[in-house]
Amino acid sequence: MQDIKSMTKGEAEARIEQLTKELDKHNYYYYVLDQPVISDLQFDKLLNELIALEKEYPALLKPTSPSQRVGGEVTKEFTKVTHKYPMMSLGNTYSETELTEFDDRVKKLLPDEKVAYVAELKFDGVAIGLTYKKGILIRAVTRGDGVQGDDVTVNVKTIRSIPLKLHGNNFPDEFEIRGEIFLQRKDFERINEEMEEIGETAYANPRNFASGTLKSQDSAEVARRKLDCFLYALYGESFSFKTHFESLQKAKEWGFKISENVKLCHSLQDVFQFIDHWGKKRESLPYDIDGVVIKVNSFRQQEELGFTAKSPRWAISYKYQAASAVTILNSISYQVGRTGAITPVANLQPVLLAGTTVKRASLHNADQIEKLDLREGDTVFVEKGGEIIPKVTGVDLTKRKSSQHPVKYITHCPECGTELVRTEGEASHYCPNEDGCAPQIIGKLQHFASRKAMNIDGLGSETAELLFKANLVNNIADIYDLTVNDVSQLERMGNKSASRLIDGIEKSKEIPFERVLYAVGIRYVGDTVAKKLARHFKSMDRLMDATFEELKDAPEVGEKIAESVLAFFNAESKRKIIERLKEAGLQLAISNKGINAPLSNKLDGLTIVVTGSFEKYGRDELKLLIERHGGKNGSSVSSKTNYLLAGADCGPSKLEKATKLKVKIISEEDFTKMIIS
Ligand code: IVH
Repeated sequence: MQDIKSMTKGEAEARIEQLTKELDKHNYYYYVLDQPVISDLQFDKLLNELIALEKEYPALLKPTSPSQRVGGEVTKEFTKVTHKYPMMSLGNTYSETELTEFDDRVKKLLPDEKVAYVAELKFDGVAIGLTYKKGILIRAVTRGDGVQGDDVTVNVKTIRSIPLKLHGNNFPDEFEIRGEIFLQRKDFERINEEMEEIGETAYANPRNFASGTLKSQDSAEVARRKLDCFLYALYGESFSFKTHFESLQKAKEWGFKISENVKLCHSLQDVFQFIDHWGKKRESLPYDIDGVVIKVNSFRQQEELGFTAKSPRWAISYKYQAASAVTILNSISYQVGRTGAITPVANLQPVLLAGTTVKRASLHNADQIEKLDLREGDTVFVEKGGEIIPKVTGVDLTKRKSSQHPVKYITHCPECGTELVRTEGEASHYCPNEDGCAPQIIGKLQHFASRKAMNIDGLGSETAELLFKANLVNNIADIYDLTVNDVSQLERMGNKSASRLIDGIEKSKEIPFERVLYAVGIRYVGDTVAKKLARHFKSMDRLMDATFEELKDAPEVGEKIAESVLAFFNAESKRKIIERLKEAGLQLAISNKGINAPLSNKLDGLTIVVTGSFEKYGRDELKLLIERHGGKNGSSVSSKTNYLLAGADCGPSKLEKATKLKVKIISEEDFTKMIIS
């Protein structure tokens, strides 16, 4: 790679063009075809080179550049746009009989004609309309009320499976393509877990997640969340093809992500078969579907059939029934999380649902209870859809008695009695008594000692609770005042386990600053942000004194995080705890000498699992190197793993799992190249 500073403008332009082509190609391989050719690391290297060049030559930055996909623009309010073609919805059917009736209606309006249908999956996401002019994405608009939607182009540009520029040149000058923005289940679970970890309210399902994300004001946040998009319908005036099926093939050639699971059906029987097949197989798809869409294939026939006031006569959806049951809502209880967030829970009369006995269901928040107008004693419908936790979807009002009263949402914490607060724009109520509310204190202790944080051997969830209940520990700093004598008073705690715990606490004093920062539990500061903050500010003292502006200048830190950090250190009680942690000897600054000092950002964002034995390094040495280069160590191979670093004599199970999950397997030599290149 030539040094940027020594390049002429012409050379820079040529290199930008080359990098753009390369990156577009790899985006397509990875996100549309699902067949990556280069590693994430190699991809990021090319992308960083492009970003650096564009920074040096801002005039050469094109709106279709792959660098635009990282986001960065903040939108206060989205502009309303009127759809050129109204965004209609589809009629729903739930049975073969209703579908046969649809087929009869179609045939009646097209007497003596053969009708072919296209059967497609009905993706459970958010509808989007994308307009392309001369092959370039110029606008992305949500459905809104069907007539007008929100212009969310800045956010949509971060979705890597959506082409910013089309392939080839045989597309119309201007057209619209519509599709569904969604989130793969594994990404939903991963990001939701991360959100819970940093104290944000988790979303109920991938659809809500996708729709919330699409309306996010911070496009960089959208970019991080890995939305995806299948396209399924073209709108325009100058298409050469005559059928919907053909149009999908063409759209695929232009670079759009079109589902493989589309079937051209010459009879209603074929349609039933498709429905039946995916009804049984839908769990095996990596994303949620809620049914099948059936469309008349011929555009001429579509035109003849036309529209009713609400939907086309040439298409219909078949919805799969969610597994549901009817039961009684006995009561509502309220849980308090580590951050003080209150979650209402429905206590149900036990009922069998999709093979498991359901006793409880999440009610999410106060709005949800109000929307359902729930009352204790109600006969309720419970469903288990895509999500793991069942939910209450409605009330059988015919069974309601006049003696039942609407639920009064709690106003005070069920654990400590403090009055709850609800911040404008937030879905949940919170108990503000952070330092005096038992589940919050216990939750904070458990978080502090957890593996990703201080990793204190012997201080599991139960022990944390016991220590608090025995009044030995009231906050994280108290942990460092414990003695073997104190601890051995606890139930089921002999001298040996007590010593083990005290040793574990002693050892935690060597844990590097970035993990201490994560462990203290600042809202919205997850392990990644903690790492960035630690590297940027270098010490707790400097971080504590940072102004709002200084915080916002740190990488990955937006207003929300900056405010939260400020609020944390503004509290006298927090400053006192930090002071005590310092006195106890914890690492409150980046050490540039010790064995834990960071070496580079080369493995930033990568999770690597190390297995087997190696020639040059010991296994623990490799693990340390991963951390010092910014990576994370994974304990077992999962969909979250980026690489399996496999040495000699490694067990076959990890290798098999990596192959199955398409996790790249690398050698010690590959790894060494990654950290020195
Ligand atoms: S075609 C005129 N195809 O379902 C409507 N829609 O209830 C044309 N959807 O608004 C829509 N997968 O948001 C179509 N393969 C698919 C779909 C699909 C999901 C959504 C879409 C639409 C809604 C209709």
